Amino acid sequence: MARLIYHDATGPIELPPQEKSAWICACGLSQNLPYCDGAHSICRKTEEEGKVYTYDKPRKSVVEIKDDQ
Ligand code: FES
Repeated sequence: MARLIYHDATGPIELPPQEKSAWICACGLSQNLPYCDGAHSICRKTEEEGKVYTYDKPRKSVVEIKDDQ
């Protein structure tokens, strides 16, 4: 599966030195970028291989599903 997500950032986000492990969002759905906030659970629960999912601007729900070509 793949997903299309609106991003409006125009530059990097500083990741300050951490004393503990930090989980960086790789799914693009976190509301607390660059950190993972658990929003990836929707990917695991709903997305299927061979499909492309387009999410709304708040990255909270799927608005379109297409076959991945
Ligand atoms: S990897 Fe994106 S919210 Fe967890």
